Amino acid sequence: MKYTLITGANGEIGHSLVERLHQRGDNIIAVDLQPLDETVAAKCAITYSGDLGNITNEQLYTELEKLDITEIYHLAALLSTSAEKNPGLAQHVNVGGTIRLLELARTTGKRIHTAVKFLFPSTIAIYGFTSVEAKKSAGKVKEDEHTLAHTVYGINKYYCEQLGRYYDRHFMQLSAEKENGYVDFRGVRYPGLISAFTVPTGGTSDYAPEMLHAAAQGKAYSCFVREDARIPFMAMPDGVDAIVRLAEAPKEHLTRNIYNIAAFAPTAKEIADKVRELYPDCDIQFKPDIKRQGIVDTWCEDVDDSTARADWNWQASFDFERTFKEYLAPNIKQRYS
Ligand SMILES: NC(=O)c1ccc[n+]([C@@H]2O[C@H](COP(=O)([O-])OP(=O)(O)OC[C@H]3O[C@@H](n4cnc5c(N)ncnc54)[C@H](O)[C@@H]3O)[C@@H](O)[C@H]2O)c1
Repeated sequence: MKYTLITGANGEIGHSLVERLHQRGDNIIAVDLQPLDETVAAKCAITYSGDLGNITNEQLYTELEKLDITEIYHLAALLSTSAEKNPGLAQHVNVGGTIRLLELARTTGKRIHTAVKFLFPSTIAIYGFTSVEAKKSAGKVKEDEHTLAHTVYGINKYYCEQLGRYYDRHFMQLSAEKENGYVDFRGVRYPGLISAFTVPTGGTSDYAPEMLHAAAQGKAYSCFVREDARIPFMAMPDGVDAIVRLAEAPKEHLTRNIYNIAAFAPTAKEIADKVRELYPDCDIQFKPDIKRQGIVDTWCEDVDDSTARADWNWQASFDFERTFKEYLAPNIKQRYS
């Protein structure tokens, strides 16, 4: 039996990804520190949660090493705000956990004589600018530009991208026996994702989904960034579609291991205005938190995703208008009705 492993399966992306891969007919192994929601667990063949679902617990790997895992979606991580509050734990989980999963992929690939696909959700937090002027003048950034991240989260992700490329292309290059090629490492740098069904926690792009979900519930919202703060965002269905389509792309078409993907890049005010169109009575105030705003100011305004478009025909289905009109508005109204 072949399995698809999803770590962090109970998170925002995990909920949608489990649904998508279940529809594809995958035998899913779900791993999460938190107990898995019933709707998630029902779609999985095997689940590990609590202590045994901790990606830094060696006991978990005693179980996973017995299984023929051919695809890994490694979502489990501390997000940017949580990581910055506890850099030691962030490095333990975000780097240590990723290394352990890369090793699982490599040893499994060697045992079953095939490259295990390793899908990695990286982030626009790997980019770093020292001023708002520099960020503005850079515009859409390419994958290899401006990669001096200012947060431990961004640095952790960038290091793991490099490690993944190493496992894929150069692992133990001095060894007499061939050791590379057992991990087929592929990743996308996600912008902030907006879901109609789940509310994020611990991220720095959370202001967009937070203001929308607050408005839908009739709650006032105080936005922690300035009105002119601009970073890229994407609707959750496109986020899930991107990682699955990248996984399914023929390896010979891929010219890189990590790709930018783009959809839309509004300012916080433009997002608030869209939310106000949907909920005219909503109460959204802007009260920037200087420190969290400082992190957003180091992230790029937008990304250049031309390589993903050329290599694996990537294109977002939802632009800013369509995200609100066709995805968020109907689903959120139904969710809170
Ligand atoms: N959501 C976004 O906007 C966004 C943007 C860029 C990148 N990403 C990346 O995508 C991935 C998933 O993001 P998400 O939005 O679903 O996050 P999330 O916080 O909703 O989900 C992460 C899940 O990982 C689990 N987890 C945390 N530590 C763990 C551990 N030690 N062992 C096992 N499970 C653990 C959490 O319980 C949680 O269910 C993350 O790697 C994140 O960095 C997300």
